[in-house]
Amino acid sequence: MMPSTINLKEAWSQVPTGVGVLCTTEAEGRIHGITVNSYISISVDHPMIGVSISINSNSHDLIKKNREFGFSILSKDQKNVANYFSSDKEFSLPKNIQFDDLGGNAYGIQNATVQFACSLRDDFFLTDHTLFVATIKNVRFNRIQPLIWHRSGFSELTTRR
Ligand SMILES: Cc1cc2nc3c(=O)[nH]c(=O)nc-3n(C[C@H](O)[C@H](O)[C@H](O)COP(=O)(O)O)c2cc1C
Repeated sequence: MMPSTINLKEAWSQVPTGVGVLCTTEAEGRIHGITVNSYISISVDHPMIGVSISINSNSHDLIKKNREFGFSILSKDQKNVANYFSSDKEFSLPKNIQFDDLGGNAYGIQNATVQFACSLRDDFFLTDHTLFVATIKNVRFNRIQPLIWHRSGFSELTTRR
């Protein structure tokens, strides 16, 4: 029997993930971000990332048009960043959210744990989402603990390495 949407949501919510923000740019050059947790490393020898984006999001067509984007994995104190970029962004960008220029029209969230500059390679339209596959052109990271999404809420790791 097919699982119901609600069962699937609850099943996936048992699995902790890092919280990403994919940044593209709007026509006037303003940075546009979307919070995502459906992303994967496809290869490190041939640096590639996959991100699943809803066709109903504003970001979807911006990614297709621009073909370059920044991808940041947020650090533990950046819940406000995740909340802002998962909202309809009716309010102007909070002052404490700042960007780093990663080159090639890619912007990362300042003080994120990881920042990638990405260049779109392929897109796979899959019913209500598109899987965007991009080459990672540049990477920066630090040792700040990441923000975690688990059971529909934000958490932090309790172990330190
Ligand atoms: C923790 C979290 C993870 C999310 N992951 C995704 C995702 O992987 N793909 C997606 O399309 N939307 C995801 N969303 C929803 C988008 O962030 C949300 O719909 C956003 O408002 C879309 O922005 P846009 O329409 O300006 O592009 C997620 C939201 C949250 C809070």
